[in-house]
Amino acid sequence: MGEPTPLLNLLEYEAAAAARLPRMAFDYFAGGAGDEVTLRATRAAWDDIQLRYRVLRDVSQRSLATTVLGQPLAFPALVAPMAFQRLAHADGELATARAASEAGIGMILSTLATTAIEDVREAMRGPLWFQLYIYRDRGMSRALVERAERAGCGALVLTVDSPILGRRERDVRNAFHVPAAFPVPNLTGTPRTTLAGAASGAETASALASFVAEFWDASISWRDVEWLRSITTLPILVKGIVRGDDARLALEHGAAGVVVSNHGGRQLDTAVSTARALPEVADAMGGRGTLLVDGGIRRGTDVLKALACGADAVLVGRPVLWGLAVDGAAGARRVLDLLRDECDLAFGLAGCASVADVTRDFVA
Ligand code: GLV
Repeated sequence: MGEPTPLLNLLEYEAAAAARLPRMAFDYFAGGAGDEVTLRATRAAWDDIQLRYRVLRDVSQRSLATTVLGQPLAFPALVAPMAFQRLAHADGELATARAASEAGIGMILSTLATTAIEDVREAMRGPLWFQLYIYRDRGMSRALVERAERAGCGALVLTVDSPILGRRERDVRNAFHVPAAFPVPNLTGTPRTTLAGAASGAETASALASFVAEFWDASISWRDVEWLRSITTLPILVKGIVRGDDARLALEHGAAGVVVSNHGGRQLDTAVSTARALPEVADAMGGRGTLLVDGGIRRGTDVLKALACGADAVLVGRPVLWGLAVDGAAGARRVLDLLRDECDLAFGLAGCASVADVTRDFVA
């Protein structure tokens, strides 16, 4: 119900959220690994690309609509998978689902959501995909896959950049944990308890770090992508790719596509920016499979550049949480509307009437 806010863009939403959220929550969402070099560079890399716009192309009628994996999007974006959204607003993932539905785009639900898959599916009109890690206990992973299928998710997004967790010093400093009152209903039993416990000891004083060390499988390899392929009929996107050779391997092992991502700068610090990695990955894929990108998307021009560099759509992450923090579902919706309006403006000014008009020659 918040006051109408005069926030003009996604960056202003971040500043507003910083002023509202408790330190532990804001830092968990905003932060990156190590010196946060990749976090900053991933945002800046979009600014570094210059647009070679075209003129006199009749842009009086414009459409941003597209389809990804055969599923319709009002503009080429989905909400990125992000954990523990009730830390941003009491309505958490349900509010995000409502915002994404109203904006006509898709949402990828994190395994570490604070809302059950089934409830989010009910709140979501458009494509809902489920993000997955591979647990040491493959039975746990298999059960989640079956649950996502039963709930009607349209794809699985396997995060592969996190065999171990990046060291996020903000979380260590804040002794990050998920308050016991918050459900993590896609996990049951011991894993949930580990997340709630504020860990102690300077090295691992983040409950998420303890959780990951205990339950995720650092031995995962391409064989596990094949294993996942063998237990589901859903399309699988491999998320966390930054190289052409790995993108090709993903396709060879049965993935329907990849997400070029460095996990929002939260894993390997000084990793390549996604805007830089994207053209190499696009070239390696050569139009086979779905290609998405995330990391630092804050402006409509970033979306245009991502498409010009070969992406079918972008994932937008943190800004949605900032919208949630400012005004729940309405705030998240406003963030998505701002991004859509900026896309429309960028497309029009660049001489593109539709996503099909955006080609590599639009970037310098
Ligand atoms: C979870 O995936 C995180 O990046 O915190």
